[in-house]
Amino acid sequence: MAMENSQGTFSLDRHIESIPALETSRMRLFLVLQDEDADLERVECVISSDPAMAAKVVKLANSPFYRHANQFLGIHQSLLTIGLDMVKCITLSMAVMDTLRCESRYAKSLWSHSYATALIALSLGRGKAEKDCLFTGALLHDLGKMVFLSRAPETYIPLVAFEGSWPDSDLERDVFSVDHTLLGESVARSWHFPEEIVRIIRDHHSPKDLNSAIVYLINHVICRYEKGETEALAPDSRTIRSYLGDMYKDLVNTILQRYKMNNVIVENLF
Ligand SMILES: [Fe+2]
Ligand SMILES: [Fe+2]
Repeated sequence: MAMENSQGTFSLDRHIESIPALETSRMRLFLVLQDEDADLERVECVISSDPAMAAKVVKLANSPFYRHANQFLGIHQSLLTIGLDMVKCITLSMAVMDTLRCESRYAKSLWSHSYATALIALSLGRGKAEKDCLFTGALLHDLGKMVFLSRAPETYIPLVAFEGSWPDSDLERDVFSVDHTLLGESVARSWHFPEEIVRIIRDHHSPKDLNSAIVYLINHVICRYEKGETEALAPDSRTIRSYLGDMYKDLVNTILQRYKMNNVIVENLF
């Protein structure tokens, strides 16, 4: 794979090879959280040994959205307050952020978008396996954009027309010879994510199964909202109808409501 930038052509394969393995201690915690029998004591023990994680959890629990009394919440109460799903969100995103080392405001806005997508996907999943898969796939669906921001910010950032308006896949392919879906797929594979999660990342703009159709729809609603189009409008898509049935138009309203509800929480994650 080759990529053009202001300094000339360079190998994307080489860039993927240069991306280190996902940060292991946080991935260990993520696996603990995926475990159905994850108990709070064990989670608290792991988080307490990771000051950056603990700080993020405590900050969120003490943010105006959650905090109802004047008393400061310590780590134990904070975990109870925000819940293990939110801890999962923080853990996986911090593992990816630390690995890619990218903290620009563009990266932050992309994470907000990804958190929101993941929390809605989690709420739409049925059964633990489907919820886990949808959650992780949705949180990482734009992984390729994060890699562009991390490895080629000087070329990628000028393509962002305005906050919330990311370059489409055609423009990415014109400039980099690859779009964020295929780049995300390659990186997720190199990180050994399960196949069903890799497929969500690869197919979230052209769904090929139920899970990628769900993430497509959530992404569609959120992207419209981020561009200032606040009315729920379902895409007229035969593909989406084939996976989700006619009810997909109702689902658009549910997604928008949940997005507005979660948005306040997501803003407090930074
Ligand atoms: Fe995308
Ligand atoms: Fe997206």
